[in-house]
Amino acid sequence: MKRQHFDAWAAAELDAVESALSSWVPANAPAGLGETMRYGVLDGGKRLRPLLVLAAAQAVDGEREAALRAACAVELIHAYSLVHDDMPCMDNDVLRRGKPTVHVKFGEAQAMLAGDAMQALAFEVLTPEHGVPAALQARLCSLLARSAGHAGMAGGQAIDLASVGQPLAEQQLRDMHRRKTGALLQASVLMGAACGPVSPAAWNALAAYGDALGLAFQVVDDILDVTAPSETLGKTAGKDLDNNKPTYVSVLGLERARAHALELCAQAHAALARSGLADSSALALLADKVVQRDN
Ligand code: IPE
Ligand code: IPE
Ligand code: MG
Ligand code: MG
Ligand code: MG
Repeated sequence: MKRQHFDAWAAAELDAVESALSSWVPANAPAGLGETMRYGVLDGGKRLRPLLVLAAAQAVDGEREAALRAACAVELIHAYSLVHDDMPCMDNDVLRRGKPTVHVKFGEAQAMLAGDAMQALAFEVLTPEHGVPAALQARLCSLLARSAGHAGMAGGQAIDLASVGQPLAEQQLRDMHRRKTGALLQASVLMGAACGPVSPAAWNALAAYGDALGLAFQVVDDILDVTAPSETLGKTAGKDLDNNKPTYVSVLGLERARAHALELCAQAHAALARSGLADSSALALLADKVVQRDN
């Protein structure tokens, strides 16, 4: 896929994801919860995880309905993790996706409940009565649950909070980043791959691609926290230093962190090259975007 084809493909897929999310996230949940959920997930964010699902599904000629549901489910989990991440008991941030954070706008209890409800909705979206074979539904639920829970995102977030003010070794930092951010990004790739026929070799290569890209993503997030202004980021710059968080920048320094992101991007490309997939160019372009992004 050439760059301009990729841009057109991504724009069309982002439209599809936005309208599917808008139809699935209820406006009429009780006591304002629907409005809070919609505020937290619609109309914002880069939607990298849905694009990874759909790019991987395209690479394996996967089932469309399942892939679109997986793309929305993983974004719901991601958006819920952001709502909770910004709360005063975690990172205490007031700006997200260029808007006041959910707890600032709707209060802490609503933010917590909206996150809870978004998490549950992700699994509802993955388990429709018709349109996705039962075995594939179970596989997608399993991949998503394992990446979001104690072994993945939630576990990584626990390490993150327990590490405030701690000088982590690079190995510990890598483990934390793999869990808190990498796991969900890798799961996005694997959920897309699970939607189609995929050889064990291709599966393993895509898992390695997702692992490298997932880690690269958080390394770049740490770099941008230091180098980009809040207006570009859509979230408060300089937050990691303020909160005394160990990051790739605090542990390696800016230049080595940048070099490491490029190294991980090269590893992601190398994994695609050995996948044996006929066309993984959208995944390749997404890896480049992860390290070249400015927000
Ligand atoms: C931010 O993720 C939180 C991390 C996991 C580092 P994104 O940078 O993907 O946030 P959005 O979805 O574009 O807002
Ligand atoms: C968050 O990492 C990872 C999540 C699981 C949400 P950060 O705390 O660095 O994310 P930002 O910088 O607030 O988006
Ligand atoms: Mg955080
Ligand atoms: Mg944060
Ligand atoms: Mg960050």
